[in-house]
Amino acid sequence: MGHTTPLTLLCVILLFATPSHSIDVHPQDRISLSMFRSSLPNPNQSLPSWVGSNCTSWSGITCDNRTGRVLSINLTSMNLSGKIHPSLCYLSYLNKLGLSHNNFTSPLPECFGNLLNLRAIDLSHNRLHGGIPDSFMRLRHLTELVLSGNPDLGGPLPAWIGNFSANLERLHLGFCSFSGGIPESLLYLKSLKYLDLENNLLSGNLVNFQQPLVLLNLASNQFAGTLPCFAASVQSLTVLNLSNNSIVGGLPACIASFQALTHLNLSGNHLKYRIYPRLVFSEKLLVLDLSNNALSGPIPCKIAETTEKLGLVLLDLSHNQFSGEIPDLDISNNRFSGAIPLTWLDANLEIVDFSSNELSGSLNDAITKWTNLRYLSLAQNKFSGNLPSWLFTFNAIEMMDFSHNKFTGFIPDINFKGSLIFNTRNVTVKEPLVAARKVQLRVSAVVSDSNQLSFTYDLSSMVGIDLSSNSLHGEIPRGLFGLAGLEYLNLSCNFLYGQLPGLQKMHSLKALDLSHNSLSGHIPGNISSLQDLSILNLSYNCFSGYVPQKQGYGRFPGAFAGNPDLCMETSSGVCDDGRTQSAQGSSFSEDRMDGPISVGIFFISAFVSFDFGVVVLFCSARARNYILQTKV
Ligand SMILES: *[C@@H]1O[C@H](CO)[C@@H](O)[C@H](O)[C@H]1NC(C)=O
Ligand SMILES: *[C@@H]1O[C@H](CO)[C@@H](O)[C@H](O)[C@H]1NC(C)=O
Ligand SMILES: *[C@@H]1O[C@H](CO)[C@@H](O)[C@H](O)[C@H]1NC(C)=O
Ligand SMILES: *[C@@H]1O[C@H](CO)[C@@H](O)[C@H](O)[C@H]1NC(C)=O
Ligand SMILES: *[C@@H]1O[C@H](CO)[C@@H](O)[C@H](O)[C@H]1NC(C)=O
Ligand SMILES: *[C@@H]1O[C@H](CO)[C@@H](O)[C@H](O)[C@H]1NC(C)=O
Ligand SMILES: *[C@@H]1O[C@H](CO)[C@@H](O)[C@H](O)[C@H]1NC(C)=O
Ligand SMILES: *[C@@H]1O[C@H](CO)[C@@H](O)[C@H](O)[C@H]1NC(C)=O
Ligand SMILES: *[C@@H]1O[C@H](CO)[C@@H](O)[C@H](O)[C@H]1NC(C)=O
Ligand SMILES: *[C@@H]1O[C@H](CO)[C@@H](O)[C@H](O)[C@H]1NC(C)=O
Repeated sequence: MGHTTPLTLLCVILLFATPSHSIDVHPQDRISLSMFRSSLPNPNQSLPSWVGSNCTSWSGITCDNRTGRVLSINLTSMNLSGKIHPSLCYLSYLNKLGLSHNNFTSPLPECFGNLLNLRAIDLSHNRLHGGIPDSFMRLRHLTELVLSGNPDLGGPLPAWIGNFSANLERLHLGFCSFSGGIPESLLYLKSLKYLDLENNLLSGNLVNFQQPLVLLNLASNQFAGTLPCFAASVQSLTVLNLSNNSIVGGLPACIASFQALTHLNLSGNHLKYRIYPRLVFSEKLLVLDLSNNALSGPIPCKIAETTEKLGLVLLDLSHNQFSGEIPDLDISNNRFSGAIPLTWLDANLEIVDFSSNELSGSLNDAITKWTNLRYLSLAQNKFSGNLPSWLFTFNAIEMMDFSHNKFTGFIPDINFKGSLIFNTRNVTVKEPLVAARKVQLRVSAVVSDSNQLSFTYDLSSMVGIDLSSNSLHGEIPRGLFGLAGLEYLNLSCNFLYGQLPGLQKMHSLKALDLSHNSLSGHIPGNISSLQDLSILNLSYNCFSGYVPQKQGYGRFPGAFAGNPDLCMETSSGVCDDGRTQSAQGSSFSEDRMDGPISVGIFFISAFVSFDFGVVVLFCSARARNYILQTKV
């Protein structure tokens, strides 16, 4: 043990001198990267880890183990700006270049075309301009080109885009202001799987792609013509998004033949005619949006196959001309009795929007099968008959909109404990109120290389009930006023009568409209505790009595117009009856009264009113109009 041999010593020295994990950035590449860094507008704050030579510590840089050559750059979201300096073009071993989500403003450097080893380029979400340089044509090994979200990039799609690299799988060029047509070369590029050209200025007739695509997103362009069958993609396509174009004709039966399709959005086109009754999508379909077209005829009973695992989650057929009754949609799987497996519960109709069609008849039990409903809109149709007693029994329901129909009879008076959300006060404060009732849906489908689709959506609408503009009679069930989770309640423009209980239990209430009914008696007691309440409308009823200031109604000075027997205490102590305001109200007249209330206008104008004074609220086209006069 007394001495160490020179050999062991050497081993020890070697071990310490060249730790196995350290790679030095190749000196030439270090110069290139340093030039890039010093070209940034504030080099001292940017990329502070780019010091020394230890490649592992340089953020965003990966080097070759042996040679130290830079293989990939990933500077996503580093708050970089200015020009992309051409010094990067000397990194000749580079195979991945990612500079997305920064603020680069230059044209795409021509010299990127010299980086012949590049496999993937992601320069999305910058402010690059000047089109795609022809030099990119030399990048024959490229598999991914992602330039989305450079709104000024512009120009036509280059004619060579479909045949410069036989390996190109992913082409994301959305939100780039590209114009012109789709180059023919793209239709035949065998390797292409993901094509996203959303929100450009592309035009021409829709074309039939000849390769098996996984994702095709041509939404928000100016494509015309009829729907092709995309036969080459019949087994592979998972996302087809052609919304917001000018597609004409009917829904061809072949559109249902995709075996892997999960997400189909054809909304905002000019599709017409009735849907072929045997058109049935595969059980994989989760999202079907055919809204804002001119489709007519009955809604087919069977839209998609179901298995115990999967089923349609979102069905939006709103703003069409569908007629007939609500179909007994064969969507939920009723083979199970007793315990229902959770997996199945996770995928079942949650969002159904049939609004703005010509649907009629009374509500049938078909709806009760959709046990997972979160959002149901039947607004602006011709439904009639009584509201069924099971209406308020859905467990997960958040918004129910039956406004502008011809429902009659009473509002069912049941035990309102069914809906958890209606009953539970939501502690999180949802912002903003403007446009609150219109459901905001963010559906995103992410398709990864493994053909796995991950699917997420957020539903953010107000928690509420809208039965306005029908012909409902009778008293309002007391239970409705005990729902601590309810944010929005609109029963306006009906024939409801009777007295109101207090509103104190409605802790979450943000908007309450009971106007244009025949409600009577005293107005509900003190509302000072309802801090979220920002819209209150009790006008045009038959309320009576004296409303002292301390009850908290002073915030809503116009809320009582058209209640002649009501006396509001004003700051000057005078009794301000509804008459004065209703007289002012009648001076605003019929213009803009065509068509139904736009919810957007309702909220926006109601919101504005707190700032500017006067606001016009609409109830229904033919109905009585009025003004809310507020004094700020
Ligand atoms: C940036 O750093 C260099 C050296 O660290 C220094 O010489 C220079 O003054 C700094 N520039 C600014 C603007 O801080
Ligand atoms: C290089 O940097 C990495 C990460 O910062 C660190 O783990 C490693 O020890 C460093 N190597 C040397 C020789 O400093
Ligand atoms: C670096 O070396 C390790 C271990 O030798 C190896 O697993 C890894 O794949 C190498 N990485 C690269 C980029 O060559
Ligand atoms: C690039 O970096 C970002 C954030 O650091 C990360 O989310 C992303 O996955 C990286 N991309 C690649 C291709 O490694
Ligand atoms: C781009 O710059 C603007 C202001 O200059 C800044 O607000 C924004 O966050 C930046 N974006 C990115 C992705 O760094
Ligand atoms: C981003 O960069 C800009 C200037 O280029 C700077 O004003 C801003 O503070 C930076 N933001 C962050 C989050 O670093
Ligand atoms: C690309 O296609 C065009 C016609 O579509 C053809 O003229 C050209 O030679 C092709 N280029 C390559 C590299 O295949
Ligand atoms: C429809 O497309 C246009 C551009 O073509 C875009 O401005 C608009 O926001 C799109 N609408 C929707 C609802 O996406
Ligand atoms: C379908 O596309 C339209 C318009 O482009 C968009 O507004 C809507 O949110 C999309 N629907 C779904 C379910 O993603
Ligand atoms: C179209 O589908 C793509 C992919 O799922 C999605 O990212 C995009 O938001 C969709 N656009 C519209 C308007 O629905």
